[in-house]
Amino acid sequence: MAYLNRNASDAVLPVRIGLIGSGWMGAFHAESIARRVPGAVLAAIADPNLESAGALAGALGTTKVTADAADLLADPAIDAVVIASPARFHSSLIGQAAAAGKHVFCEKPAGQGLEELDAALDAVDAAGVHFQIGFNRRYAADFQAAKKDITAGIVGQPQLLRSLTRDPGTGSIGHAARIPAWTIFLETLIHDFDTLNWFNEGAEPVEVYAVADALVEPGLRDQGFLDTAVVTIRYSNGAIAVAEANFSALYGYDIRGEVFGSKGMVQAGRATETAARRFTAEGMSADTPRLNVELFRQAYTDELADFADAVRARRDGTAPESKPFTLTPGASDARRALAVALACIESVKRGTPATVNTVAVNENVVL
Ligand SMILES: NC(=O)c1ccc[n+]([C@@H]2O[C@H](COP(=O)([O-])OP(=O)(O)OC[C@H]3O[C@@H](n4cnc5c(N)ncnc54)[C@H](O)[C@@H]3O)[C@@H](O)[C@H]2O)c1
Repeated sequence: MAYLNRNASDAVLPVRIGLIGSGWMGAFHAESIARRVPGAVLAAIADPNLESAGALAGALGTTKVTADAADLLADPAIDAVVIASPARFHSSLIGQAAAAGKHVFCEKPAGQGLEELDAALDAVDAAGVHFQIGFNRRYAADFQAAKKDITAGIVGQPQLLRSLTRDPGTGSIGHAARIPAWTIFLETLIHDFDTLNWFNEGAEPVEVYAVADALVEPGLRDQGFLDTAVVTIRYSNGAIAVAEANFSALYGYDIRGEVFGSKGMVQAGRATETAARRFTAEGMSADTPRLNVELFRQAYTDELADFADAVRARRDGTAPESKPFTLTPGASDARRALAVALACIESVKRGTPATVNTVAVNENVVL
């Protein structure tokens, strides 16, 4: 009952969030929760690296720090968790969090295999908790504007779709040897797969053909390291999509999307940091974003604000705000994008197109 979650002054109680994993992304999410997401509190941080967790907690005024996520999950005062550990722990942590009755926001990918992900999503379903995956591009203003146009039918029937990720780099990837195999599909292009699936909503990705290589770090090719990839995806409505990624764009962080259809085209994303352009005797120039947390600062904040709103709505029995287009990425989106990434790995291994395993998630899974 809503009144149970109101204090004496009738103010709505904040959503108390526990962070699991306090590295690069987790630290940014922690700061967003503590400083930028309305009505949210960073209640605890769990990370086996207690030093990093402690430093972050100290900076943000969070008192509860633990090496073991189970401590955080056992705390009845915590409503929800944000999982930002390495991907190999995601499915298991989603399952444990759901079993403990916590609402779950999980960074992408939600799992590394469909079997482990399906088990985690079954736990989400059984617990009836809210689940959201960190496909932050959906929260960028230009991607939402494009989605709104697509939903309104402005581009007509989608025929060609395009999405690209160029991570900022220096022309060499110093930590390449530590990047897990297939990261380019499982952790990078998975954003593009979700963008394409979201832009082409209602259709299923059916088949992929992926080509990948080590062009930035050719010396690591023999170890299976891949830093450059192009994927074509065929959809059940006939649309054909292309996704591409490279780990080292010297000019900055470059994310774009496009849908071309029977009535026109819509584009999202630009390689410049702002719309400002500089004109001098040498010509025209503009600044470019160098980091994901610069380009997507607002999107990362808004995805967590959406999550906190959904948790509050569940907890307090209020109706979540309705939107003019599909926004919040949930269980079926997490699974669909992972299925595309896994099919890409099969395609690269075999050198042939591969079928996407899009067997629907449990119909009852809470989205
Ligand atoms: N959405 C985005 O744009 C975006 C950007 C970067 C990273 N990510 C995702 O965020 C996740 C984390 O990436 P990162 O770059 O922050 O990695 P990272 O290595 O910087 O941080 C991972 C942290 O998790 C901790 N950890 C390890 N095992 C743990 C466990 N069992 N429980 C709790 N914590 C554990 C590590 O000690 C470390 O502090 C990945 O899934 C990655 O794909 C998303």
